[in-house]
Amino acid sequence: MGAPGVSELVSMRTDGGVAVITIDNPPVNAMKHEVRLGLLDLVSRAAGDPDSSAVVLACAGRTFVAGADITEFGQPPRQPTAIAVIEAIEACLKPVIAALHGTPLGGGLELALGCHFRIAAPGTRLGLPEIKLGIIPGAGGTQRLPRLVGIEKAMTMILSGEPIPAREALDAGLIDEIVEGDLIAGAVSFARRVVTEKRPLVLARNRDERLASARDLAAFDAAAANYTKRAKGQNAPAAAVAALRGALTLPVADALKRERDLFLELVAGDQSKAQRHIFFAEREAAKVADIAGAKARDIRRAAVIGAGTLGGGIAMCFANAGIPVAVVETSAEALSRGLDTVTRNYRNTAARGGLSTEEMEARIARIAGTTDLTAIADADIVVEAVFEDMGVKQEVFGKLDRIAKSDAVIASNTSYLDIDALARSTARPQAVLGMHFFSPANVMRLLEVVRGAATSPETLATAIAVGRKLGKVPAIVGVCHGFVGNRMLRLRSVEAERLLLEGALPQDVDGALTDFGFPMGPFAMADLAGLDVGWRMRKAQGLSAPIADQLCERGRYGQKTLRGFYLYEPGSRSPKPDAEVEQLIVDTAAQRGIVRSPLGKETMLERLLFPMINEGARILQEGIAQRPGDIDVIWVYGYGFPIYRGGPMHYADSVGLGYVRDQLMAFAHSTGDDRHRPSPLLEELAAAGKGFASLGT
Ligand code: CAA
Repeated sequence: MGAPGVSELVSMRTDGGVAVITIDNPPVNAMKHEVRLGLLDLVSRAAGDPDSSAVVLACAGRTFVAGADITEFGQPPRQPTAIAVIEAIEACLKPVIAALHGTPLGGGLELALGCHFRIAAPGTRLGLPEIKLGIIPGAGGTQRLPRLVGIEKAMTMILSGEPIPAREALDAGLIDEIVEGDLIAGAVSFARRVVTEKRPLVLARNRDERLASARDLAAFDAAAANYTKRAKGQNAPAAAVAALRGALTLPVADALKRERDLFLELVAGDQSKAQRHIFFAEREAAKVADIAGAKARDIRRAAVIGAGTLGGGIAMCFANAGIPVAVVETSAEALSRGLDTVTRNYRNTAARGGLSTEEMEARIARIAGTTDLTAIADADIVVEAVFEDMGVKQEVFGKLDRIAKSDAVIASNTSYLDIDALARSTARPQAVLGMHFFSPANVMRLLEVVRGAATSPETLATAIAVGRKLGKVPAIVGVCHGFVGNRMLRLRSVEAERLLLEGALPQDVDGALTDFGFPMGPFAMADLAGLDVGWRMRKAQGLSAPIADQLCERGRYGQKTLRGFYLYEPGSRSPKPDAEVEQLIVDTAAQRGIVRSPLGKETMLERLLFPMINEGARILQEGIAQRPGDIDVIWVYGYGFPIYRGGPMHYADSVGLGYVRDQLMAFAHSTGDDRHRPSPLLEELAAAGKGFASLGT
C-alpha cells in the first residue's frame, strides 16, 4: 500500500511487525530528489510507528539503489540530501536492515552503510564506483566502508571503483548474511531475529575497532601512492586518498565533513563533468533512432576468419562471453601459430590470477581451430579478420556468402575499407556490416559498428547486441575511409610528422600528448604497432610520411626490429631517443628548406588535436557519426583519449569553438594545408557562440 501524499516512488507496508519500505524508481532506482523525499518521510514514519519494531529497506525491479541520480549532478543540491536520509536512518532506534540485490553502487551502497544491518541476494555486486565519474563517495562512503571492511579493502574498492560479489562482501564484513530464496521474506525474518535476540544496534560510523589497528600512516601512504601515481592528471584519486586518510586521522564527524567538501569540489569540476558526459554518451552511442524496434537475432555460435593478432583476439572475446567460436585459417601452420598465441594469452592471465584454471580451460575449449571454411556453416555470425586488402577480402566474402547460413550476420573487421564494396561481393548485402575491433581485441572496449548502405536493421541490431554481450562499447558509424577513429587519427599522424620537421623530436610530440593524459604518443604507438603497417597502407594510397617512410626504408619497423622512431633494448618496450633519428629529421627538414625552431607544448597539442576536431565536425556534418558524443566515446575507448577530458569534441567545447576555429585558420595559413580550414559546421557553431554539445549528446 503506497503512503498517501508521499513520493510515488517510495512506499511502505507492514509485515507482521516489520515495516518494509520499497523504492521503485526504474530502471536502476537512482536516488533522485523525489526518492530522497519519500525515503526521509517514510523512515521517520516507520521510526515512530508503534506497530513495527524493525524496518527493512528494499528496492523493486532489477537492483537496489545503483547510486545518486547522475543527471542531478551539476545542479544546485536539493534538500533532503542523501546525507540527511542516511542520518535519519542512523537516528532510528529500531533496527534498519538493507535488503540488497542487483548492483548497490555509490550512493546506494552508502545508503545501505547507514543501515544497522545489510543482507544480500546471492548475485549482488556491491561497490563505490564514483572514481569512474571523476568524483568520490560523498555521502559517507569513505568513512563507513573502512570501518566495516578495513582501510586496505576500502582503498581498493574506492580507488578501483570495481564492485565486489556478495560472497566477498560477506567475508569482508560489508554484509551480514547472504539470503537464498525470497529476499524480502528473508529480510523480514532477519529483522525479527534481530529484535528477538536484542542484537545491539551499532552504527558503522561508530565502529572504530578495525581502524584502531590500522593507524600506520606510512603504510597507508605507501599503498595510496600506488594508486595515485597511476592516475596522473586526475583529481579524484588524490581526493579519495585524502578522504580515506581522514578515517585514520580525524574524528568521524570532521572526516565526514572533509569528504563532503572534497566531493563538492570534484562534482563542480571539469573532470567530473567530462566523465559524466562519457557515462551518458557511451550509453547513447549504441542507440540508432531509425532501427528502434528491430530485433537482434540470437547468437549461439560464431566464426572468425583469420587467426592473426586481431582474429585471435576477437575469437577470445566470443569465448570469454561463453559463445563457441570456430577460427578458420588457410594453412595449418598459421592456424597453430594463432591458436598458440591465444592459449599463451589465457595462460598469462591465469598465471596473474585473473582467471581460474577451470575457467581458462573452458574458454580455450570454446575455440575450435580449422582450415576448413565449411566449418562456418552453423555460425550465427561470421567476423572476417584477414589481410587488409580489398581483393583478398572480397574473395573471402564471396566464399562466406556461399557457405554461411541464410540468416547469419557477415561482418568485416576492416579498419579502413569500403563496407559497401564488400557487401556487393555477396548476394546478401543486407547481412553485411563492419565490426571494427581495436587491438588487442580482447582488451580494448571500443567496437565501431559500421553500417553499410544496405545493412538491414536486424543485422545492425544483432551486431550491437553481440558487441554488448562481448563487453564492448559499440558506437555506430557510417562508411567512409577509416570510419570515424582512423579517419581522425590520420590527421593527427600527418601533423605529428610536420611537427618533427618544424622543430620537435619524437619524444617532444609524444610527451605533449602523454602530459595531456594519453597513455602513449603517436610515435611510441607507431613503433608498437609496426611502422611497416602504415607504410604499406600509404603506398597503396599514393601517400607519404617524410620521416616514417625513410625509417621503413632503413628497415626500422619499430619495436619488432628494436628500432623505429626510438631505440629499444632487446626484451624491453621502453623507448629511448636515438641520435640517428634526430639527424634524419634535421637533414630532411634542411632538404625541404624548413628552418627548425623549438615548439611549445601548448602549440604542439593544439596542432595535434584541433585538426582532428575539425575532421570530427566534418564527420558529423556528413552523418558518418550520429552525435558528437559518439566521437568522444570512440576516442576514449579506442584511442586512449583521457576520459577526464571527455573526448575530443567535449574537449573542444571546453576550450571554446571560437578559439579552435581561429587557431585552425592560423594552421591552414602556416602549413598551407587546406584540410585545416575550419569546416562549415565548426564555423557555424563558433559564429553562434555554441558548442558541439548543442547538437545533442
Ligand atoms: N543516475 C542516472 N541514470 C542512471 C544511473 C544513475 N546513477 N545509472 C544508470 N542510469 C541510467 C542509464 O543512463 C541508462 O539510461 P538509458 O536506458 O536511458 O540509456 C539506464 O539507467 C540503464 O543503465 P545501463 O544501460 O547502464 O544498465 P545496466 O544494467 O547495463 O547497468 C548499472 C546498470 C550497473 C547500475 C550501471 O548503469 C551503472 O554502473 N550505473 C552507474 C552507477 C554509479 O556510478 N553510481 C554511483 C553514482 S555517484 C553517487 O552515487 C555519488 C554519491 O554518493 C552522492
